[in-house]
Amino acid sequence: MNYFISQFGHPRGKTGKFLSKIMNISNKKMYKANMSKIKKGMKVLEIGFGNGKQLQMIKKTYPNAILYGVDISKDMYCIAEQRLENNAKLYIADAESLPFDDDSFDAVITTDTFYFWNEPEKVLSEIKRTLKSRGIFVNTFNTMYASSVGKARKGDGIYQECTLIETARRLDLKLIGRKKIGLCKRLNIFRKGDNDG
Ligand SMILES: C[S@@+](CC[C@H](N)C(=O)[O-])C[C@H]1O[C@@H](n2cnc3c(N)ncnc32)[C@H](O)[C@@H]1O
Repeated sequence: MNYFISQFGHPRGKTGKFLSKIMNISNKKMYKANMSKIKKGMKVLEIGFGNGKQLQMIKKTYPNAILYGVDISKDMYCIAEQRLENNAKLYIADAESLPFDDDSFDAVITTDTFYFWNEPEKVLSEIKRTLKSRGIFVNTFNTMYASSVGKARKGDGIYQECTLIETARRLDLKLIGRKKIGLCKRLNIFRKGDNDG
C-alpha cells in the first residue's frame, strides 16, 4: 500500500504529526458540518480523532458536551491528550471493538476515516451498539478518497459511500440526511432505530 495512504490511515512519527496538521486545514469544513449536528450537553464519541482538533473545537462551542474519542494511532493519542488536557476521555482503540457500554452516546461522529476501516460492518455494528436509541451517527468524508483509498487498499470498492449506507440500513442505522460540503466532501447522518420515522 502507498506510504501516504498508510500514514493517513494510521499516522505515525514526524510525518504523521505533519499530515495531521494538513488534515486540520483540509477537513475544517467537515468538522464544522459535524458540529452543526451536535446539541449542548450531548455525550459524543469521535472515531479516529487524529490530533484532537475536532474535539477541541466541539469543547469550545459546547463546553457542557461530554466528549470521548478512540484512535488506533498511539502517536495521535499522545498529541490529542496534550491538546485536550482533561476535556475529553481518549482511548487507543480500534473502532471494530469499542471500549464502551451499550447505549452510551447521543452522537458518534467521524471525519475522513471510514475508507480506512478494515471491517466497516463491524465498526457500524459497534456504533449502533454504543448509540442510545435515536442517537445519531454523523459521517463526513472526502468522496475522492472514498474511491481512491478504497481501491488502493482492497480493490473491491467496499469502501464506497453507497456500500456503507446499505450496510448501515441493514443494521437499522437509517440514513436521515445527506449534504454536500464543497466540491468533494460529504456529510451523511444516520439515526439508530428510526423505524417509526
Ligand atoms: C485521515 S485521518 C483523519 C483524522 C481526523 N479525523 C481529522 O479529520 O483530522 C484518519 C484517522 O483515523 C484513525 N483510524 C483509522 N482506522 C481506525 C479504526 N479502525 N479505529 C479507530 N481509529 C482509526 C487513524 O489513526 C487516523 O488518526
